[in-house]
Amino acid sequence: MASDADADASGPQRPLPSGEATALLPQGEVPAIAPLARALAPPAAARAAAEPPPPGTAVDAMRDEEIARTRLFIRMGWLLSVVAIGTVFVIDAPRALAIVFVAGLVFGMVVSFGYHQAFAEPRNYTERALMRLAVICIVNGHLAVLLYGAYSAAPLMIVIGIHFVARTEAERVARWIFASAVISYTAIAAAITSGAIADPGAFASDAPVGRTALAVGALFVLATFWLAYYTARQFRAASLAAIDDLQRTTRLASQRSAMMTELLGDLERALRAGPGRHSDQVVGRYRLGAVLGRGAMGEVYEASELATGAPAAVKLLRPELVGDPAQRARFARELAAGRAIDSPHVVRILDGGHGEVHPAPGDELATGGTPAAPAQPFVAMERLRGHTLAELLRRAPRLSGEALAALGRQVGAAIDAAAAAGIVHRDLKPQNLFACDDGTWKVLDFGVAQVAADPDPRDERGVIGTPHYMAPEQAQGRRADPRADLHALGAIAYRCATGQHPFDAADPAVLLYALVHRMPARPSALAALPADFDRFCAVALAKSPDQRFASGAQLARALAAALRGALDRDTRDRADALIRARPWEVRGAAPGSPR
Ligand SMILES: Nc1ncnc2c1ncn2[C@@H]1O[C@H](COP(=O)(O)OP(=O)(O)O)[C@@H](O)[C@H]1O
Ligand SMILES: [Mg+2]
Repeated sequence: MASDADADASGPQRPLPSGEATALLPQGEVPAIAPLARALAPPAAARAAAEPPPPGTAVDAMRDEEIARTRLFIRMGWLLSVVAIGTVFVIDAPRALAIVFVAGLVFGMVVSFGYHQAFAEPRNYTERALMRLAVICIVNGHLAVLLYGAYSAAPLMIVIGIHFVARTEAERVARWIFASAVISYTAIAAAITSGAIADPGAFASDAPVGRTALAVGALFVLATFWLAYYTARQFRAASLAAIDDLQRTTRLASQRSAMMTELLGDLERALRAGPGRHSDQVVGRYRLGAVLGRGAMGEVYEASELATGAPAAVKLLRPELVGDPAQRARFARELAAGRAIDSPHVVRILDGGHGEVHPAPGDELATGGTPAAPAQPFVAMERLRGHTLAELLRRAPRLSGEALAALGRQVGAAIDAAAAAGIVHRDLKPQNLFACDDGTWKVLDFGVAQVAADPDPRDERGVIGTPHYMAPEQAQGRRADPRADLHALGAIAYRCATGQHPFDAADPAVLLYALVHRMPARPSALAALPADFDRFCAVALAKSPDQRFASGAQLARALAAALRGALDRDTRDRADALIRARPWEVRGAAPGSPR
């Protein structure tokens, strides 16, 4: 029996013909996420994972460029050192000082050669390495100041060093090199200017120049230090701003890709809507018409009751799934859930069962009364007129605040009604939310719902839900409670307000990992939204069910308030604590990078 279950769970997934990718995954050992998700990963994603990823953000791109620049700077340092060593033989400088200077340069070249090779691997580019190089620069720079003269061009070599380091992401090292250059140079210049020591430099500042002139010269050099530091920081800020603009464009592209995913699913179904395999046939008390829509498992037909002509919608299994015994459980669950829940925001179930699909009474003679197809499960529902949320989001990537608040209120009420009946939907997503033409939202498709009275054996070994809207506990294959549906509603609100999925990755392993361990990008960074909406998302998408909203009504109230920027104080405090504990993800920031 266990082996049956295993075979069923880990067998090849049927390719899902629509964009509605409901995951029903085998659960591996703990941690189950990676192997689980690998089972789902398309081969293309696996191939892409082997290639080095492109820089994810502006900061990444700048870092790559910076490492290349640092290595160039080191090579320039070698050239400068060799030239400087050459000059020692032609200038008139104290012998001891010349020896120390040459030793310093040789030491610097040897150490920097090591770093030059190590930086070929970006992981080795650390703040500590930069700090060591900066110390060598400062020491050798000031040996040069002593050797050539405090009022010669030697200090300008230090300027180049300050400018270089201040442009890097290592802000602390930049501050350090600036401060230590100022202190060292001031000390040397003050000692010479005051006459405490004789200027040992080759281009010594002996008698002809007055002390005031020397002091002014020293101030001038200090000013260049500051200028180098300041302009470099400004350059860096300017580059970041420029790349940030670029990133906004990229974000638009990724919004489009989220739309495309939903678009493709809808398009497929739209193209297939129209006459279906069973159009004009009869199942139970219903005559079937055109196909209204297709999901991952079912085909929904427009229908009418034979006796009264009353409109209905009938869901049958997709042809390729007929005969799969596991699918019958789906219909049984849908029927049980539909009958147990009493809510104007859940599609009403009229009838269901198990029936033969056969020609309409008038056509019976044509086929000699034999059934046209073997008996199969069906569900008859109220016929809805309108569009799924997925269709609406395809037309406009975002919902207005008002429309989103209404969605939250009504779908929240549906979740509460289901919870009262002991039912968890487990697969709330834009394709399963229906906006009726009269403005009512209805939740569809309780096919993978968890019914309390009927513990689902799949809970023990699988993951159920659609990855983008799945709660962390579902991603881990744990039993879900209504707070998993509230998480999905939070993820849908995030999607409707920002135009993006909270978590998105080509590789399902990465997606599921993020779902369990990471926070999404800050919503107000993706669209013009009040900070309270960020807070709403922090609570709605909290990793632990205990930290989320307790009911659909509570979530809906917070959503409406957050969209107006008027979240209550308690929820604000609660959200701020959650955000402090687990900050919004900064996409692409390398952990441990020297910032
Ligand atoms: N009662 C209904 N009235 C009108 N259209 C419906 C109805 N139920 C479902 N649909 C359409 O059929 C699609 C698939 O239905 P769904 O119940 O989600 O099937 P599946 O179980 O295969 O996901 C929906 O996205 C929707 O477009
Ligand atoms: Mg569906």
